[in-house]
Amino acid sequence: MRVLGISGSPRCEGNTEILVKLALDVLAKEGMETDFLSLAEHPIHQHIAGDGSAKSAETEGSRDDSVLKDIVERFKQADGILIGSPVYFGSATPQTMALLNHVGYLSRRTDKFLRRKVGAAIAVGRRAGQNFTIAQLNYWFLLSEMIVPGSTYWNVGIGLNKGDVKNDEEGLQTIRDLAANMAWVMKKLGA
Ligand SMILES: Cc1cc2nc3c(=O)[nH]c(=O)nc-3n(C[C@H](O)[C@H](O)[C@H](O)COP(=O)(O)O)c2cc1C
Repeated sequence: MRVLGISGSPRCEGNTEILVKLALDVLAKEGMETDFLSLAEHPIHQHIAGDGSAKSAETEGSRDDSVLKDIVERFKQADGILIGSPVYFGSATPQTMALLNHVGYLSRRTDKFLRRKVGAAIAVGRRAGQNFTIAQLNYWFLLSEMIVPGSTYWNVGIGLNKGDVKNDEEGLQTIRDLAANMAWVMKKLGA
């Protein structure tokens, strides 16, 4: 079984990346194959137009399209999807939402490849907006017919500067518990 963990921060090695990698470490100890994607290294632009038309990753041929095509394949290969985002003005980053708009729309228009995968969200902020952000990401999972496990608190971390989240012990434990529950659900569903 495989989990794709995504950091939706434009900042490499920041707080979101730390928490997503912490969760992936726990999932690896639970026997999962893990795959990490940083949107800081692969910035994604909005592709879906308001009238419902979408540029095709197959036909456009730009660098962005070939990157997207590879990322979509990584979603398809995963049994679990873990999405972390910093809180930006009370919600998920534009990079995170551009990716989710593309992948969610593609799944719905094709063979619903997201259906019944396990999805978990993590949000990190300096002060407020984490709950709204995980709700925003959970709505995406639920609309995609995915299964969402919980943790011992909401899946949030506190931190402003790179590495601050390492001082948020309750946040770290919440993410470890989330990852353990995600593995448990995945094993049950895979049985
Ligand atoms: C444009 C911008 C908007 C932000 N808005 C919020 C906010 O609404 N609430 C909050 O608590 N932190 C906010 N922050 C702080 C970040 O969420 C915080 O620095 C976080 O740790 C960044 O995660 P990263 O290290 O993974 O990039 C904002 C930061 C930026 C750059």
